[in-house]
Amino acid sequence: MENPFTIKSYESKDLFCDREEELQMMFLNCVNRTDMTLISQRRIGKTGLILRLFDELKDKRPDIVPLYFDIFASRNIDDFIKMMAEAAMKSFQTKTTLGEKLLTFIKSLRPQLTFDNITGEPQLQIAYQSTHEKEYTLRGLFDFLDSQGEHIVIAIDEFQQIRDYPEQNMEALLRTYIQRTHNLTFIFCGSKKHMMADIFANEKKPFYNSTSFVSLGKISETSYSAFIRRLFSERQRSITDEALQFILNWTGRHTYYTQQLCHTVYANGSLDITLEEVKRACEQLMKQGETVYLQYRQMLTDKQWNYLIAVAKEGSVRQITSAAFLKNHKIGTPSVSRRLADALCEKGLLHEDTTLEGITYSLNDVFLSRWMERL
Ligand SMILES: Nc1ncnc2c1ncn2[C@@H]1O[C@H](COP(=O)(O)OP(=O)(O)O)[C@@H](O)[C@H]1O
Ligand SMILES: [Mg+2]
Repeated sequence: MENPFTIKSYESKDLFCDREEELQMMFLNCVNRTDMTLISQRRIGKTGLILRLFDELKDKRPDIVPLYFDIFASRNIDDFIKMMAEAAMKSFQTKTTLGEKLLTFIKSLRPQLTFDNITGEPQLQIAYQSTHEKEYTLRGLFDFLDSQGEHIVIAIDEFQQIRDYPEQNMEALLRTYIQRTHNLTFIFCGSKKHMMADIFANEKKPFYNSTSFVSLGKISETSYSAFIRRLFSERQRSITDEALQFILNWTGRHTYYTQQLCHTVYANGSLDITLEEVKRACEQLMKQGETVYLQYRQMLTDKQWNYLIAVAKEGSVRQITSAAFLKNHKIGTPSVSRRLADALCEKGLLHEDTTLEGITYSLNDVFLSRWMERL
């Protein structure tokens, strides 16, 4: 039987743990045409949740058309248009009237339209002349989708990427075009919290206060343990309480790492899963990561490397400038500590979490953290 612990993309409701509250909220937002912003740490389950939501819409509101695209790899407005148009072509099969119309529309843009020979998926090449023409095309795309008499939910993943575009006015443009639409509901999704907050919660920026926020935390212990137990037992396997507890504690209930650990335990094939079995899987995962971890070693200064180890040993650090932390790990002055933390956040190795008690730092990669705490 296939491994039920998904470590790639969303597969089915059955293999998706909890998120009932967030799902409900997002579902209602869709139905009520409220644009939303979905923010969380990397790999916590944003993309999965969007796809889960689309599944739910397909079931309960087949009249709503879902459209998803990920702009992580986009570099400029050209890429954005291309990705959005391709996603639209995927959502509206060319067989349908809407699909036909979309195709006609895209052809009217004077692009060179080519289809990928291998996958058969649409791959657009659009030839532009001027900036003005690009902006016109982007607006045209929104207007086109808006004028089809269908309610379309458009999810744009890794939205903060637009901040790296050379076009400085991308936010203002998008905001203007989006504001003009009536039948489109947007989900803006992103992992870079600072940037997402600056886009949507800074009163000086175009998107300020225009969306409802959904923030995604960790799955609760009750839900996750019931989920793991169920997936094992449905496949005639058992897991001891002790082993289950260890899994959730070792991964800190971080979704991706929990899935990955369970995936490995399952793949190892034991029918009765004990603590020893789980610990063996942990060792395997750290061993697998080692090549990459040692590359980080090369990439970082000694100070940065040691700082990561210090944070890993603490698990998470609430006060990076506290005397105890600085002294215990021989870090130096508070400003040194702050600089190191900033640099490591910038590199994506550290993660900062803003809570009521202040900012807490931990390693982004749970397995790296577990590996480093032993050094
Ligand atoms: N609720 C969930 N139940 C089970 N697996 C999940 C859940 N949410 C996410 N995952 C899995 O965790 C991994 C990371 O999720 P993903 O949605 O890609 O995170 P993000 O988009 O926040 O970076 C994926 O392999 C995904 O399949
Ligand atoms: Mg994602």
